[in-house]
Amino acid sequence: MSIVLEARNLTRDYQVRRGMFSPDATVHALAGVSFDLEAGKTLAVVGESGSGKSTLARLLTMIETPTAGTLRINGIDLVQATKAERKTLRSEVQIVFQNPYGSLNPRQTIGDALEEPLIVNTSMTSAERGAAVAAMMARVGLRPEFRDRYPHMFSGGQRQRIAIARALMLRPKILVLDEPVSALDVSIRAQVLNLLAELQEEFGLAYLFISHDLSVVRHIADRVMVIYLGHAVETATREQLFASPQHPYTKALLSATPVADPDAKKERIVLQGELPSPFDPPSGCPFHPRCPQAFDRCKSETPPITLKQGRDVACWAVE
Ligand SMILES: Nc1ncnc2c1ncn2[C@@H]1O[C@H](COP(=O)(O)OP(=O)(O)OP(=O)(O)O)[C@@H](O)[C@H]1O
Ligand code: SF4
Ligand SMILES: [Mg+2]
Repeated sequence: MSIVLEARNLTRDYQVRRGMFSPDATVHALAGVSFDLEAGKTLAVVGESGSGKSTLARLLTMIETPTAGTLRINGIDLVQATKAERKTLRSEVQIVFQNPYGSLNPRQTIGDALEEPLIVNTSMTSAERGAAVAAMMARVGLRPEFRDRYPHMFSGGQRQRIAIARALMLRPKILVLDEPVSALDVSIRAQVLNLLAELQEEFGLAYLFISHDLSVVRHIADRVMVIYLGHAVETATREQLFASPQHPYTKALLSATPVADPDAKKERIVLQGELPSPFDPPSGCPFHPRCPQAFDRCKSETPPITLKQGRDVACWAVE
């Protein structure tokens, strides 16, 4: 087992202005998250809107720096890395967003978009770059004549293939996928997921796959990390998570998802209340105001994430 990325107590706060007469507030978007990413494997990250998933993606891809905590990529600590090391590490971790429009320049042809990372980061000749672009386009299922076309001329699924191809041009070891299929039609979604599975195998890629869709997660994940208000509440193998979820929040998420087997009897747990304001997070266990199993201790003491029932879970009620 080889670990390509190691996150420890990863934390990110944002200072937010709340108007002329209110003091600035701090949003704890990510409140100390730890995990390992294994070469060639997929860690899925699930959680409600606002739980900190994209914040995590921005830290891992070095778009933003953590407020606290450590991040090691290929064994190198990002804080201590030299400028040259950081540059190398930047090309090792690439990102694909939900909406590739955001990452593709509308005035750049597909061929130019794919060639650009090679021009910036490598000393390849023009002919070598052209060959690499053609090979990658073929690999992700884009026809050679698409090279001179612009992003708006493609369907959502094709644009996502372009975004994936671009992310892979520098042959990264890690791909952060932030809701990569959420905006696609169901039929196209399966094709893109299959492509991602093939590419993972072929290039030995580690995926950090962000999704709010548990049916997708069940399909692609090796391990799953559930986050709630910036806290990891349960991290388990896919099998453990779907067969025997332990954290009350994980249970609630699973019960709110349609089951594949229509005969399976399942009691639906209805999550009470909204996700609390990130400006004013609950004391103690962040889930306590919505938790059906909450008891006194939960209101005052935050449960640490520890090994229980063979996986990491943060809950006082789990033995
Ligand atoms: N640049 C920023 N400035 C201030 N607050 C921010 C910033 N980015 C994120 N936040 C806040 O941090 C929290 C986590 O946001 P984030 O975008 O990471 O959530 P998410 O899990 O990706 O949600 P979604 O599923 O909607 O994409 C939210 O409360 C959000 O409002
Ligand atoms: S610690 Fe308490 S409030 Fe939090 S999830 Fe467990 S039982 Fe619920
Ligand atoms: Mg997001």
